[in-house]
Amino acid sequence: MNKTIDNIVSLCKRRGIIFQSSEIYGGFSAVYDYGPLGVELKNNISKFWWKEMTQIHENIVGLDSGILMHPSIWEASGHVGAFNDPLVDCKKCKSRYRADEFSDDFSSINWNEIQCPNCGTIGDMTEPRQFNLMFKTHVGPVQETGTEAYLRPETAQGIYVNYQLIQGAMRMKIPFGIAQIGKAFRNEIIARNFIFRTREFEQMEMQYFVKPGTDDAILENWKEKRFIFYSKYLGIDKSKLRFHKHGDNELAHYAKEAWDIEYNFPFGWSEIEGIHNRTDYDLSQHEKFSGKNLSYFDQPNNERFLPYIIETSAGLNRMLLTVLVDAYWEDIENKRIVMKFDPMIAPVKAVICPLTKKDGLPEKARDITMKLKSHFKVIYDQQGSIGKRYYRQDEAGTPFGVTIDHQSLSDGTFTLRYRDTQEQDRLSLEQIISIINKSVHPK
Ligand code: GAP
Repeated sequence: MNKTIDNIVSLCKRRGIIFQSSEIYGGFSAVYDYGPLGVELKNNISKFWWKEMTQIHENIVGLDSGILMHPSIWEASGHVGAFNDPLVDCKKCKSRYRADEFSDDFSSINWNEIQCPNCGTIGDMTEPRQFNLMFKTHVGPVQETGTEAYLRPETAQGIYVNYQLIQGAMRMKIPFGIAQIGKAFRNEIIARNFIFRTREFEQMEMQYFVKPGTDDAILENWKEKRFIFYSKYLGIDKSKLRFHKHGDNELAHYAKEAWDIEYNFPFGWSEIEGIHNRTDYDLSQHEKFSGKNLSYFDQPNNERFLPYIIETSAGLNRMLLTVLVDAYWEDIENKRIVMKFDPMIAPVKAVICPLTKKDGLPEKARDITMKLKSHFKVIYDQQGSIGKRYYRQDEAGTPFGVTIDHQSLSDGTFTLRYRDTQEQDRLSLEQIISIINKSVHPK
């Protein structure tokens, strides 16, 4: 099967899922736009995550904090000082690389012996230089006198600086969590693999505030829950998922322990979500920089402490890429490409097709569309042969097809076609609604 990123990129363009940003201007590197089906798919995934966090867990509440925040936050968090990528340049062809692409232990590399992957020159690489990944901007009318600010590189800090307000307002008792979905920005030097690593992306982060000493067990618990989220709830092929534990040289500056959930993409095993024990690093840094006491008062035990934080941090775009890659299926026998999205997250749940454009079939099909669209997202399609219409929707991942034919006019039954098997059943409208409703709601 040709499950390559190139094939997935072209399907996404063809079906209105994802487009390169600013295409008519020649493109804008490492930014992507989500088309009509892409935005539905992305929203369905993020709604599902949101529900899993803030509805299923009674002790997790939501937040939507600003992208721009007080610049001191990024000094406190360590991002001004430590959020750097080590870069090397080929002096000959000017290609730029992340030093860790050559070796995890790049500090002990002899750069004079390294060959440029682009031009092949040996010994013309610069020593690694640190490059900060945050985008800077200016707040205020005049650049020179305005305050320098950053576009947030992670959503997490918005949660930390609001944690006490939320805890007080919602009377939260430890352990409790705060979840947030929002854009984050990183000036990635080497952006590649479609929407895997981009400069503008969305994170879905949940910060769980716990009593120190309970952190190790709670981290284990979240690891398990997050794995099940992918393997069971999102229906991702379990054999393509695994954990990777960060070694000492990989750990972020804030982490005591960190695990990635990885997926086996066409370009290899890569991180889709991180689960981190951030200890009290962030809160103690914000205490230091803000001068505010951020401790939590545990009433039953009459004690005060700075909570530890267990973080689950997923990229929405990477989760979407995982879903796209996992769903892609070339049905060789039937000469079609099918996106086997779980009906729960499929952008469109059913296509409604009149068999022909005459004899009152379009009118009846319009009527059915009206009735179905109050239950779930459907589209009406009368363009082209019925086979072509089905195949178009197979590529778009639409799980059901409802066809209106002459028999429908006389006995009120319709054909329900199933995307993956192409089997068909003759059913009443009520039966069709019940089948689709059952499959589009989370298991
Ligand atoms: N708050 C912790 C944090 O931001 P991270 O490992 O740097 O940790 C978490 O990022 C997740 O955000 C990653 O697992 C990935 O899914 C997503 N992510 C990070 N950088 C990204 C980028 N440049 N493009 C797309 N997604 C990205």
